[in-house]
Amino acid sequence: MGGDKIIIEGGVPLKGTINVSGAKNAVLPVIVASLLSSTPCRIIDAPQLADVEVICQVLESLGAKTYWVGKDLYVDASEISHCEASDEIVQKMRASILVMGPLLARMGKVRVSQPGGCAIGTRPIDLHLKGFEAMGVQMSKEQGYVTAQTNGLRGARIYLDFPSVGATENLMMAAALAKGTTVIENAAEEPEIVDLANFINSMGGRIRGAGTKIIKIEGVSELTGCEHQVIPDRIEAGSYLMAAAITGGDLTLENVIGDHLKPVIAKLVEVGCQITEGDSTLHILAPQTLSAADIKTLPYPGFPTDMQAQYMALMTRAQGASVIAETVFENRFMHAEELRRMGADIRINGRSAVVEGPCRLQGAMVKATDLRAGAALVIAALAAEGHTEISNTYYIDRGYDNLAAKLQGVGARITRR
Ligand code: UD1
Repeated sequence: MGGDKIIIEGGVPLKGTINVSGAKNAVLPVIVASLLSSTPCRIIDAPQLADVEVICQVLESLGAKTYWVGKDLYVDASEISHCEASDEIVQKMRASILVMGPLLARMGKVRVSQPGGCAIGTRPIDLHLKGFEAMGVQMSKEQGYVTAQTNGLRGARIYLDFPSVGATENLMMAAALAKGTTVIENAAEEPEIVDLANFINSMGGRIRGAGTKIIKIEGVSELTGCEHQVIPDRIEAGSYLMAAAITGGDLTLENVIGDHLKPVIAKLVEVGCQITEGDSTLHILAPQTLSAADIKTLPYPGFPTDMQAQYMALMTRAQGASVIAETVFENRFMHAEELRRMGADIRINGRSAVVEGPCRLQGAMVKATDLRAGAALVIAALAAEGHTEISNTYYIDRGYDNLAAKLQGVGARITRR
């Protein structure tokens, strides 16, 4: 994946075509859900991401086998010998708590470190645990670990106080092998939930309603291996659209599902971009001058929190003031400080940020504080005058497959060192 720093010389309008990879937030739960199957699963053309490597290590630590054949990832969970996700693993990647559902279903027991605070908020797992309890799981907590045990999962009616993506996925996986029918109400509606349901159904599961607020899962006694290709990464696609928009570019994306990007496309049109949708392509033509527009992050189909930082970077170059309200996570503005180092005028007031544009962005030494904050800095740097050096690029590698090479391919002056 290259060196630890990304170096960008800004000022080049992006022109050409970028191929979007498989979605990080779809492939992680799909890899974990392979634990439900007693025979191997093949994930076709899986994205090459640091987070994929980490989740494979998690599965290996449980006794499953993971291996690549070309660009396809195989997961063989015919034998599972451990049922613990350690503190070290959960700290490294929060998505590792998704092993709870499959391990409860396969082993009747799981022990996981309870996630503490992270860079973007406290992110508790109470909704996951409440749902499991309704399905006949006993919980005990000691020394920062949760031990969950069951004599057999049974279907239940579960109402989520908030449509949590992870809780919906975890409960859907457990319910797939439970006795009886589970109904998840106020479920998350993200496209990645639909992808996971399709994957489980290809293994022999019976899930209906994924993509709506009510998901019904009829438990089956066994799931078996299948082949699956995950959906395109809507956040990766959205990030490249922002990069094109901020540089005055003319860019085509291949392998995208426009429907998944509706709120992002709507905003880009509002700020002055022309967007044309093809079958599996999107073309963006940026205006000479961007106008400012407000956003408020919301669960799908609202504007994604995972695009908030990149949009903030874009708004630094727009004419006028924009208000950015973050409602999904409580502490997700750390990129604002780094963007200020590049000359941005941003004020934070609780869960809102006000960007006064247009700012004159200038290259600087900045650091990625999380994955999407890192993407925001790349976007700002592409439009800035001069030379930007981004450190902590490990975060960017977590979720962007070959970012530097893809941007070089459309004219950006970007290198790794
Ligand atoms: C997933 C995505 C992440 C995205 C987020 C919101 C993956 C691997 N990650 O994260 O990129 O930003 O959805 O779209 O798919 N919450 C609780 N209790 C719980 C669970 C969640 O209070 O038991 C709260 C969280 O603290 C947060 C909000 O719900 O404020 C959203 O979290 P959730 O939807 O669960 O996000 P993740 O699944 O962690």
